[in-house]
Amino acid sequence: MAHKVAFITGGASGIGRALAEELAEQGVEVVLADRQAALAEEVAHAIRQAGGKASAHELDVRDPQQFQRVVDETVARTGRIDYLFNNAGIGVAGEIAKYTLADWDDVLDVNVRGVAYGVQAVYPVMRAQGSGHIINTASMTGLLPTGEAGSYAASKHAVVGLSKVLRVEAKQHGVRVSALCPGVIRTPIMLGGKYGRTNLPPEAEPTMMSLWEQLKPMDPRVFARKTLRKVARNAPIIIVPSWWNLFWFVERLSPRLSLWLWGKLYGRIQRELAPYRPQ
Ligand SMILES: NC(=O)c1ccc[n+]([C@@H]2O[C@H](COP(=O)([O-])OP(=O)(O)OC[C@H]3O[C@@H](n4cnc5c(N)ncnc54)[C@H](O)[C@@H]3O)[C@@H](O)[C@H]2O)c1
Repeated sequence: MAHKVAFITGGASGIGRALAEELAEQGVEVVLADRQAALAEEVAHAIRQAGGKASAHELDVRDPQQFQRVVDETVARTGRIDYLFNNAGIGVAGEIAKYTLADWDDVLDVNVRGVAYGVQAVYPVMRAQGSGHIINTASMTGLLPTGEAGSYAASKHAVVGLSKVLRVEAKQHGVRVSALCPGVIRTPIMLGGKYGRTNLPPEAEPTMMSLWEQLKPMDPRVFARKTLRKVARNAPIIIVPSWWNLFWFVERLSPRLSLWLWGKLYGRIQRELAPYRPQ
């Protein structure tokens, strides 16, 4: 196989880490860019120990200059970028009625601006190559009215929208674009992750986890393998685990029915988390 390079934001943890490990096993050189620089270096080190090619770079995706610099350094070193996984993301849970301005800004800055800055920095490289694949991590929350975490839902709907438009535009330059929509994957983001938050006290964690368990969280490595098969097929919207397609089918068939369904589920979440909510 020709030498391929993947640039992965949020590559230090969870989905980004699993994608990096899988890609490295397939012989792809992986570039891990994360705000958690030391953790990214640990992951890169483990990949190198296992015989793969990996490097780690400190990157806060909210900083467009830093993003451009890390991409420029990568291209100067590797000569190309074949995959951009615009994957870094955070979640801030809670009801919109209780949101602060920071609950909006923190999420939109990472999940929307961070993705846009990645496109700004890497898309010109791929256009010049006449090839490449940009995979923007959205979520099923970018396709469905899942309730809770309004800023997260807004950010992920934005990622789906920008990915669709970019896919249409980029085709003429030989560049592929997909929106990746994970269901529930067992990663630190389930409890807020390093830079996100649940807006709930620690005592609520067991209840939150039992709610997540009902949605059958997938192991990140299994998720990464299934995702990469769909990336290879150039699917426009990648849904993994695939049983979540059923919810998306209902959403397209009848948005009203979907709203009813998610309203029912939200009611249940509300009841279970009510004892922990700030008044
Ligand atoms: N795990 C799930 O169930 C799930 C479901 C749908 C979508 N997603 C999305 O998948 C992506 C990866 O999340 P994950 O589940 O692996 O969570 P995670 O918390 O394990 O990983 C997120 C990574 O992003 C990094 N990051 C956060 N803010 C950053 C910033 N400003 N700059 C650079 N890096 C930053 C973190 O350091 C971390 O390494 C996110 O976009 C998330 O919204 C996850």
